[in-house]
Amino acid sequence: MPCRREKSGAGQMELTPREEEILKEIDRDRIPVHVAMIMDGNGRWARERGLPRSAGHRQGVETVREVVRFSNYLGIKVLTLFAFSTENWRRPLQEIDFLMSLPEQYLQSELPELVRNNVRVKLLGDPERLPEKVRRAIAKGLEATSSNSGMLLNFALNYGARMEIVRAVRAMLRDLQQGKLKETDISEELFAGYLYTAGLPDPDLLIRTGGEFRISNFLLWQLAYSELWFTSVYWPDFGRIHLLQAIRDFQQRERRFGRISPEQR
Ligand code: FPP
Repeated sequence: MPCRREKSGAGQMELTPREEEILKEIDRDRIPVHVAMIMDGNGRWARERGLPRSAGHRQGVETVREVVRFSNYLGIKVLTLFAFSTENWRRPLQEIDFLMSLPEQYLQSELPELVRNNVRVKLLGDPERLPEKVRRAIAKGLEATSSNSGMLLNFALNYGARMEIVRAVRAMLRDLQQGKLKETDISEELFAGYLYTAGLPDPDLLIRTGGEFRISNFLLWQLAYSELWFTSVYWPDFGRIHLLQAIRDFQQRERRFGRISPEQR
């Protein structure tokens, strides 16, 4: 397929004619600031090919590489990927082990490029239960990219939104008991500051691949006013074209945040 080189802040990118066509329909000044993704369908992608589930996860990492590059290229400021939930510990041990090898693998090969492209890496979730190698890999990624000021890449690992909220309540109560806070200080803004996403804008757009229509304990507080975009495409097959379609659809939506639309006034 003939490709044309496009220039952007995050380097050059080969775009197919179809990708260019959709890109033209997108207003580059209204790219969603924060995009969150539930990466579902790796297992089914593998099963349909007669492959072990691990093959789906491995291919899923390739999608992560591509999506991170392209999100940065498009000017997305925060990308949050749901890589392992607090409920995923219920999977067979062999699969958990495999999933736990992926952050290290990804960061080992991608870190130089992330550093070069000014991407900053962060962990959302409880590091306690994560194996040492994962914590080390993430810590290395965090440190190597800590002075970067471009796109923030959040890996939600051992993340569960209910757990995040309970943790925030506990921390807030501690501050209350220690007199650092009084009850009347408690507000939505203050509470948000106790979450893993403290200081970040809420997601503008949530993308879920794999054909299910649910949130699965992901960013329950932060998604209150996000636009939701679902696709039946399995995560390993999710590509630039799908991200472009999601952004184009996002830009066609009217975000009212509880208000009425201007033409109803
Ligand atoms: C859900 O699909 C996917 C996961 C639980 C893991 C997602 C992880 C990746 C895509 C790779 C992460 C990469 C890095 C760099 C950390 P599923 O297995 O539940 O699929 P199924 O619903 O078809 O069975």
